[in-house]
Amino acid sequence: MAVTSSIYDQIGADKMDAFMASFFGHIKDNKNIGPLYPDDWTELAAKYKPYISDFLRGNIIITKQGDPNLPREHTGAPISRDQADEWVNCLRLTLRDFKISDDNREVLLDQIQQKAYELVNAPQ
Ligand code: HEM
Repeated sequence: MAVTSSIYDQIGADKMDAFMASFFGHIKDNKNIGPLYPDDWTELAAKYKPYISDFLRGNIIITKQGDPNLPREHTGAPISRDQADEWVNCLRLTLRDFKISDDNREVLLDQIQQKAYELVNAPQ
């Protein structure tokens, strides 16, 4: 049986900057979450990249040092459950842009959604 490569491998490390640009494009186009983010998202894309790369490798458990701080880093942004869903949907749209139609895509997105829900800090 063929070894299944991760979604990250299917995209390719050299395309990850383009992937992040596409993700932030979808975020800024989204009327519910776009306004939470700065217009110049380049610095933020660099901060998100290691996390998104890890997720796409199937590494959903956040292991990097400092990661327990993620909820605190989000206290400046009110995140409702709907907004977390929209955020995950931006990732779904980006995966579609990169032609990832793997069966594993939705399984992975479900797991990422659980992580995003851990950051929810505001009512609907
Ligand atoms: C598991 C999913 C997520 C991860 C791994 C993540 C990761 C990050 C990281 C690393 C930062 C930068 C923190 C810093 O300044 O050092 C950040 C900032 C931010 N995140 Fe998230 N995030 C996630 C989900 C969300 C969701 C669901 C929202 C809501 C729409 C959100 C909104 C924001 C905003 C508004 C900022 C700050 C932007 C600014 O500096 O102005 N994040 N996030």
